[in-house]
Amino acid sequence: MKAIKVGLLGIGTVGGGTFQVLRRNQDEIRGRAGRAIEIAMVADLDVERARAIVGDACPVVTDARQVIANPEIDIVVELIGGYGVAKTLVLEAIAAGKHVVTANKALLAVHGTEIFAAAHAKGVMVAFEAAVAGGIPIIKALREGLTANRIEWIAGIINGTTNFILSEMRSKGLDFATVLKEAQRLGYAEADPTFDIEGVDAAHKATIMSAIAFGIPVQFDKAHVEGITQLQAADIKYAEQLGYRIKLLGIARRRDTGVELRVHPTLIPAHRLIANVEGAMNAVVVQGDAVGTTLYYGKGAGAEPTASAVVADLVDITRLATADPEHRVPHLAFRPDAMSDLPI
Ligand code: HSE
Repeated sequence: MKAIKVGLLGIGTVGGGTFQVLRRNQDEIRGRAGRAIEIAMVADLDVERARAIVGDACPVVTDARQVIANPEIDIVVELIGGYGVAKTLVLEAIAAGKHVVTANKALLAVHGTEIFAAAHAKGVMVAFEAAVAGGIPIIKALREGLTANRIEWIAGIINGTTNFILSEMRSKGLDFATVLKEAQRLGYAEADPTFDIEGVDAAHKATIMSAIAFGIPVQFDKAHVEGITQLQAADIKYAEQLGYRIKLLGIARRRDTGVELRVHPTLIPAHRLIANVEGAMNAVVVQGDAVGTTLYYGKGAGAEPTASAVVADLVDITRLATADPEHRVPHLAFRPDAMSDLPI
């Protein structure tokens, strides 16, 4: 069967990782997807950087619309980030009948309902495993592995930058500004680190998880968002003396009256597993009525951990797009026609 063709919009850290993983593991991936998955075109404003990654494996263009207009491309991977041009391009790709894979948590948390409705109307898929907790397959866990459950709550360390900062402040006694610079140097932080340290990035991810777990529309504007900028070294030290660690948690909880959605620094008893998640690692605890408590742990950022999630989505879409349409499980996204009206 002929290869499924992918167009990459943006080939920075995650795009580069995606290219490498697809190339290195191409035989396994072909076996699992049932077809080869091939990057057929890349759009990036920095042609030199893109060429250094892809060599002459495929054309590199500066205009993303050339990728979207390419009739050969089956799946568009959006790795640009942000709400602006990324939103326009994702909607254009959907309108052109392309399936979309995105790592863009900000875009989905704020405009997800519109994007999923457009995809549903057009009969294409939007997949976004890489948008939450990098390499941890938490979207697939919520959507597939735990699908038999009524989810009671989710609580997670879902921002690596802030967890790295809190860990380094506690273990090395370093100050906030020094550790933030180091997180930026290591590539964990967002282009605008305000999103990390003010809790916005974690709230984007918690919003997306809450939508899947509770079958509600994505409603970032309803989240309570509090970051770590008000914390001082002394708070971390006193917490430790009392037997606690401070972690920035994203929490989504089902209540009788609706869903609670919040991000804030939280005191966690030091003996709990999640209190011992250190550095830029992520961890998510999910409580389901049938399964009980489950814990997912791994790298929440970085080139290949995030690429692992992007490629998993490419494999999923390839399998579904190849299946007999009558028997295809229709969507990787939310069903706009099957939403719960639980308030947040
Ligand atoms: N800035 C994010 C973090 C990157 O620190 O977790 C991954 O989403």
